[in-house]
Amino acid sequence: MEKRRVLLLGASGYLGSQIYQELLRDDSLELMGTCFSAPAAGHLLQIDVTDTPSFSPILQEFSPHVVIWALMSATDERALIENGLDALLSLLPEKSKLIFISTDGIFGKGTGSYREEDPPEPLDERNPLATYSNAKIRGEARIRERHPNHVIVRVGPIYGRNAAGKWDKRVASMCADLKAGTEVSRSGNLYKTFVHVEDVGNAIHELLHGSYLGTLHLGPAKKESYYSFYKKMALALGLNADGVKETLLTEADAQERGVPMDTSLNTKKAHERLQTRFRQAGWENANGIDSDKGE
Ligand SMILES: NC(=O)c1ccc[n+]([C@@H]2O[C@H](COP(=O)([O-])OP(=O)(O)OC[C@H]3O[C@@H](n4cnc5c(N)ncnc54)[C@H](OP(=O)(O)O)[C@@H]3O)[C@@H](O)[C@H]2O)c1
Repeated sequence: MEKRRVLLLGASGYLGSQIYQELLRDDSLELMGTCFSAPAAGHLLQIDVTDTPSFSPILQEFSPHVVIWALMSATDERALIENGLDALLSLLPEKSKLIFISTDGIFGKGTGSYREEDPPEPLDERNPLATYSNAKIRGEARIRERHPNHVIVRVGPIYGRNAAGKWDKRVASMCADLKAGTEVSRSGNLYKTFVHVEDVGNAIHELLHGSYLGTLHLGPAKKESYYSFYKKMALALGLNADGVKETLLTEADAQERGVPMDTSLNTKKAHERLQTRFRQAGWENANGIDSDKGE
């Protein structure tokens, strides 16, 4: 039987490495992963998706059945969407599936518990993440207009050690501080749906084979504040959790800096449609995965 060709854009990234290792075990797939600036990634194809003359022939020659977009740029998210995604949408055959990883950051007002149907809200330009989040909003809209055969996956902060042994930057930085005896302060009233990297990888694998099309919010049932998330992670990792201190952001401060207070996601649909289970934070070293009884 012909293998399904899967093009994983961003296979050198934090989440992309996890997805790459997850899909590598699947014999029904012919996998091509890409990197951009990552060194020594010999098994990956180096491409710049914003460079259309070099990106287009790769798409045409490999002719993927599925494309997974796990790309992010701290400096030029706009170009990824305006050039890279645009080229992809122009060349991708109608019958090929596009899985686009998006973010909770598209809910810029921050009123919380967002469902898939809720309209995106641009992030205030005073927020340093505005270029990134607002480019994602445009990316999602273009995909809906031009390529019905898609899954737009939205996630909050992704954490945990990935299959390549790399930790997310947030927890890695907390570990370094606590080990050095430095206290860390985190907001007790900024809420997110934190999701484990392995669970996202499993869900993407499932979505690749499944029939679900449209938008889907991934993650556990319960939201966490940054403070409670870091505290639980410190405990789970055997670090000095007393070194994690709570701060509170006033509404006026949040408004001034364009910070949405609560971008938590309602993940009920994913829990109903997927086999993948999503653990609550704090189970990093345990085998158990939260059975989401509180849903
Ligand atoms: N991490 C989170 O907490 C989080 C939360 C919400 C949503 N997401 C979404 O999850 C996805 C993966 O995020 P991540 O945290 O894994 O990001 P990441 O570690 O920064 O990885 C980004 C990937 O994009 C590649 N890339 C950047 N510019 C490129 C270009 N011009 N052409 C081709 N490739 C390019 C990078 O390649 P090199 O490394 O080789 O340069 C890398 O493989 C993104 O879509 C992001 O929006 C992540």
